[in-house]
Amino acid sequence: MKTNIQIIQSLKSVRPIVATTVYDSVMAQLADQSDIDLLLVGDSVGTTLLGFETTINVTLEMMLHHTSAVSRAQTKALIVSDLPYGYSHDAFEHIFEACRKLIQAGASAVKIEGGSPIAPTIKRLVDSGIPVLGHIGLLPQQIKNLGKYRKFGKTEAEAEALMQDANTLEDAGCFALIAEMVSETVAKEISEMTKIPLIGIGSGVHCDGQILVSNDLLGLTTKTLPSFVHSFSNLSQNVIQSFQEYKKAVIERK
Ligand code: KIV
Repeated sequence: MKTNIQIIQSLKSVRPIVATTVYDSVMAQLADQSDIDLLLVGDSVGTTLLGFETTINVTLEMMLHHTSAVSRAQTKALIVSDLPYGYSHDAFEHIFEACRKLIQAGASAVKIEGGSPIAPTIKRLVDSGIPVLGHIGLLPQQIKNLGKYRKFGKTEAEAEALMQDANTLEDAGCFALIAEMVSETVAKEISEMTKIPLIGIGSGVHCDGQILVSNDLLGLTTKTLPSFVHSFSNLSQNVIQSFQEYKKAVIERK
């Protein structure tokens, strides 16, 4: 049975939700065969696969290309696609059009970065039939303002703002929230306060689920990983070894 947003929501009181990013059909199929609940076609595709320094260079066209590829895997898992940089504070019609294209490319929902200021737009999208996954805490699309990645919610003011964001986004109709790099105690409080699931990344173990970038958890990267990431494989090493063995076989005409 295809996972829908209601199934994701019902997991909150049952067991942690397991989510990862995918950007192509093969990885989507492999993640689906591993019974991952939610597959995010993240704009992290820009930094993970496309060689960009930040997610800011990722365009709607790129997101549509990767979302279509993932949707062709016909997964049981819920597919969510990121609204890329620059859309969330645009005219509503422009945002709606971008979300419509992502849904028509095969996503079941759209993830939008931002807290309380974006809530009225999210409410209009949800009312228009676009399921939305919220994203609070560290917002990678704000990197130009932030300067560097850091933990959120360490001060009382920031903790309160995060709680307010979570409440407002829940009221706006988000079916779940991602909490990126939120202090563990604040993430725990938000998870206890909200009825919708809080899926954490670098936000401690008390969230209602976890998400990691697939290449990071698989060790399939040439980059230094954030300190909170646990790699469950070292696929980069396997790839290098396989290429070296292939080269040897070619040279030795085997
Ligand atoms: O784009 C992405 O991969 C994300 C995750 C880090 C949650 O937003």
